[in-house]
Amino acid sequence: AAIVQHTFDVGNLTVSKLCQERVITAVNGALPGPTILVTEGDTLVVHVLNNSPYNVTIHWHGIFQLLSSWADGPSYITQCPIRPGHSYTYKFTITKQEGTLRWHAHFSLLRATVYGALIILPKSGRYPFPTPHKEFPLILGEWWNRNVIDIENQAQAIGVPPINSDAYTINGRPGDLYPCSKKHTYKLKVVHGNTYMLRIINAALNNQLFFKIANHKFTVVAVDASYTTPYATDVVVLAPGHTVDVLLTTDQVPGAYYMAARPYNSAQNAPPPDNTTTTGILIYDKLPYTSPIMPLLPALNDTPTAAKFYFSLTSLVGSPNWMPVPTKLDEQMLVTIGLSLSPCPNAACQFLPNVPTLQISANMNNASFVFPKSLSLLQAHFFNVKGIYTTDFPDQPPLKFNYTDPANSQNNALVFAPKSTRVKQVKYNATVEIVLQDTTIIGAESHPMHLHGFNFHVVGQGFGNFDPAKDRKKFNLFNPVIRNTIAVPVGGWAAIRFQANNPGVWILHCHLDAHLPLGLATAFVVENGLTPSSTLPPPPPDLPQC
Ligand code: C2O
Repeated sequence: AAIVQHTFDVGNLTVSKLCQERVITAVNGALPGPTILVTEGDTLVVHVLNNSPYNVTIHWHGIFQLLSSWADGPSYITQCPIRPGHSYTYKFTITKQEGTLRWHAHFSLLRATVYGALIILPKSGRYPFPTPHKEFPLILGEWWNRNVIDIENQAQAIGVPPINSDAYTINGRPGDLYPCSKKHTYKLKVVHGNTYMLRIINAALNNQLFFKIANHKFTVVAVDASYTTPYATDVVVLAPGHTVDVLLTTDQVPGAYYMAARPYNSAQNAPPPDNTTTTGILIYDKLPYTSPIMPLLPALNDTPTAAKFYFSLTSLVGSPNWMPVPTKLDEQMLVTIGLSLSPCPNAACQFLPNVPTLQISANMNNASFVFPKSLSLLQAHFFNVKGIYTTDFPDQPPLKFNYTDPANSQNNALVFAPKSTRVKQVKYNATVEIVLQDTTIIGAESHPMHLHGFNFHVVGQGFGNFDPAKDRKKFNLFNPVIRNTIAVPVGGWAAIRFQANNPGVWILHCHLDAHLPLGLATAFVVENGLTPSSTLPPPPPDLPQC
């Protein structure tokens, strides 16, 4: 195993997009930032120098961080932000996982431009499928003309979620369908008759995305750095936080084909999102230029296509790092997730002009999460500092009701969610089941819920209210897909299981960036076990202070 070192210089970068010059925050002067390539077992050391005018942290999305919770990165959860002019070195060993992940900023909306691929190659040097001819990362992103920190601050001040993006991107490039973008469209050159692996990453802030390549089929072989039973499809859907590895065989008439992505957005009672299309071009070698063929993408609200993709995936039993499903459960939680209303932080709330004391918020089991400001949860936990959080996160919703009946919107008692910093504390190695239930209280929506520190098994998912008697019988306890982010079906539910075999503090949150500051989060505090190998070491000396 090697020690892989990187230096991330976070700073201002001037780029020209959509006919405008913009100054963005980026790593090492590039968008996307550097691709990190490691082999399972390696230790990754990343020196982050913050030369930007903003606070920043870096999160290694999907990395287990076994005994290295201090390096996980979410601001105010495992560390205070790195202030401008300061630095922090993230150091961790990559164990028990291989595949495609990514890194991104975990402060305000900075992950819009502070992101890159993180690829873990197999220790064995082999995949559980034929070795592809070549591999390419394809990072789907969301582009904003405005400064994203301003967007976030304004949203916070007036109690309204951030406005729509201005474009989607493939590897940082909007593509042919946007103004002033054609020259820089991402092009992927291939040779006829080969098989390639595309490592597709959804780095967008607020939208799930459909992805297709005209006339070509994919075989999905992994999601979220976890191998799947090979699954053939001509369309892929990824929520923010998801990765999908596909094999692509270049078996079509040599020519040029568009690859394209645009949103799958299930939000009800919400203004439509940016519904533009980003494109790249797949070009067969040695061809005179022909105009590319465009794929037909599913419609914005095509939930059947999204559900078919998500529900069809299963894990590849016996593949490297595959884990059996925990069946003896120590903790069982039913957690509602959805938008709500909470007290406005100041007098300027504009969401409900007739009720200026309320702002739009989001909650889990009616608790709207507030990030601490003076200390991270992990520091509070490790040094036993009281008053930063409480351990009374509810295991069940406060009220029994019909979660997916729109009539609930009328019930003000259900709409209001108090703000608090309530976490769930569990014993080392506890097995946890969480049934995540979407609510329609202020409009249903598919929330991509991401758990730090663990992969989980998705043992079941469906539409409507979770019905324990009926739905538990249908759980897949044999080969459910293993992920780190679950797009809970719109107006529906998903059941996940994981084993809390990693001491530390791990946030569970909606990966729509608009919903994180609104409170769609909680955290698991996993206690130490009894041996040194199940005890979290003290923080590194350069851990940023608030
Ligand atoms: Cu990819 Cu907490 O995030």
